[in-house]
Amino acid sequence: MAPISIKRILISESVDPCCKKLLQENGIQVTEKQNMSKDELIAEIKDYDGLVVRSATKVTAEVISAADQLQIIGRAGTGVDNVDVDAATKKGIIVMNTPSGNTLSAAELTCTLIMSLSRHVPQAAMSMKAGNWDRKKFMGAELYGKTLGIVGLGRIGKEVATRMQSFGMKTIGYDPITPPEVTATWGVEQMTLEQLWPQCDYITVHTPLMPATTGLLNDASFAKCKKGVKVVNCARGGIIDEASLLRALESGQCGGAGLDVFVEEPPKERSLVNHPNVISCPHLGASTKEAQARCGQDIALQIVDMVKGKGLVGAVNAQVLASTFSPESHLWIQLGEALGAVLRSCITSKTPLSAVQITTQGDCLKSSTGYMTSAVMVGLLTDGAKGCPNLVNVLSLAKESGITVNKAHLQAFEGGLCEVELSIKGSRFQASGSVQGGVPVLLGLDSSMFHHPVPLTGNLLFFKAAGGPQLLPAVTGVLATAGVEMQAFSGPEARAGEQWFCVGLSSLLGGLGALNPLVKEAAQLSL
Ligand code: NAD
Ligand code: MLT
Repeated sequence: MAPISIKRILISESVDPCCKKLLQENGIQVTEKQNMSKDELIAEIKDYDGLVVRSATKVTAEVISAADQLQIIGRAGTGVDNVDVDAATKKGIIVMNTPSGNTLSAAELTCTLIMSLSRHVPQAAMSMKAGNWDRKKFMGAELYGKTLGIVGLGRIGKEVATRMQSFGMKTIGYDPITPPEVTATWGVEQMTLEQLWPQCDYITVHTPLMPATTGLLNDASFAKCKKGVKVVNCARGGIIDEASLLRALESGQCGGAGLDVFVEEPPKERSLVNHPNVISCPHLGASTKEAQARCGQDIALQIVDMVKGKGLVGAVNAQVLASTFSPESHLWIQLGEALGAVLRSCITSKTPLSAVQITTQGDCLKSSTGYMTSAVMVGLLTDGAKGCPNLVNVLSLAKESGITVNKAHLQAFEGGLCEVELSIKGSRFQASGSVQGGVPVLLGLDSSMFHHPVPLTGNLLFFKAAGGPQLLPAVTGVLATAGVEMQAFSGPEARAGEQWFCVGLSSLLGGLGALNPLVKEAAQLSL
């Protein structure tokens, strides 16, 4: 993929200074502006190619729509729930996070809250500061021998498990994706949530917030838990339903809660925060020097590597781009875009495109169907679709336009080949191409196979006509009259019937009208 040019980046929050330094050392101008209102951000964002945020900046669809130049949103942290990823994708903007930079810090805070719940340390400390010496009130319970249920066994869930095992806790858990045989290697026995709830003395949640995890702990699940169960949420507000938690705390069904995150941050409704059995923090999971340094450094290096064309790490919405960072894929992407552009130019029908089939062949394109599909669609939709198609957004733009895109790969061919077939109101149009000698070439257009592959570069004139001895001199005459030089010519292998021809031009013609008496169809484009 061609390196993405990022010249100016806005950092809109307190991100570790190493982020700014690394970006600047790599030639990127950086502006830091914190605590901007929504309107200030909307006004400011217009001038930047990149935006780096933590979790406080709300990168909404409105902000994204105002971001005319924006190409990358870098989240120095894990969750991207403060970024409207769909809106960014539609606009062709890459969203990137640093998923592991704060894992250890979030895991350590979770363990801190579990320990604090067992021994009431924060409440005891506050009581001491108030001048008391109350040993009875803060009677605790050992963690040794207790059962910890971990819901979400990803990066943080795993680190919490191994740490709490050192206290002699039994760790059980649930995760629909991480396999039980994997979690067994780090001492977590998996089971269904129905089996898990009644066994736990402590429950900690470490899932993303999404429809399936919103209210995972609710009135019904609290009712299945042991009386006095203690719960921790260092993941996202809402995974433990806040109203249900308050009810469970008040009834004693829940014996205590450690909360680092809230549905609304900061929470206006303070009943939970003020509850005597709740220990809460203002979203401090990642607030350590080490985590911030890692996240700041990771996001800067990921952006720099992307700009330098070294690779794409951490993209949450542009996985197709990750496999495009090699010189070979660059040529194939050029081919895909050029095939799409040739078809777009040569199809005169005004009927909207309904379906596209992209078929790649050959070993060298085995893992390319994702980006070849997107590349062809960029060529096809440029100038035609809403928005500005690129490899990030083109499939969602195609979907919005009602175009069905299918892809397939065949191993049969030794070299590499890409075939594109379009359906427009029952009619089919085709183009096929390859990369030969480091140049993308067109091999065929509709039923015309070119005698010599057509290099897909420069100014090209395509025309469809019945070949005959007079055709070429007549076309040459039109070009000469317009002061345009013919630089290359490719004719079809078959001469019977109407076939496509291609001519390389020194510059595009001012219009194609003069060709009308000579040809059935004509189109020109610059690649
Ligand atoms: P991760 O992606 O490594 O792990 C999440 C796990 O949740 C995955 O294994 C996934 O399979 C599992 N999961 C998904 N749906 C589930 C479901 N319905 N039930 C059970 N498990 C399910 O993420 P992570 O890095 O471990 O982060 C976990 C959470 O912590 C995220 O919400 C993240 O935003 C949050 N976080 C908070 C802080 C903080 O400051 N408090 C810091 C870092 C991360
Ligand atoms: C995260 O998702 O990375 C955390 O919530 C930490 C943060 O937002 O700073």
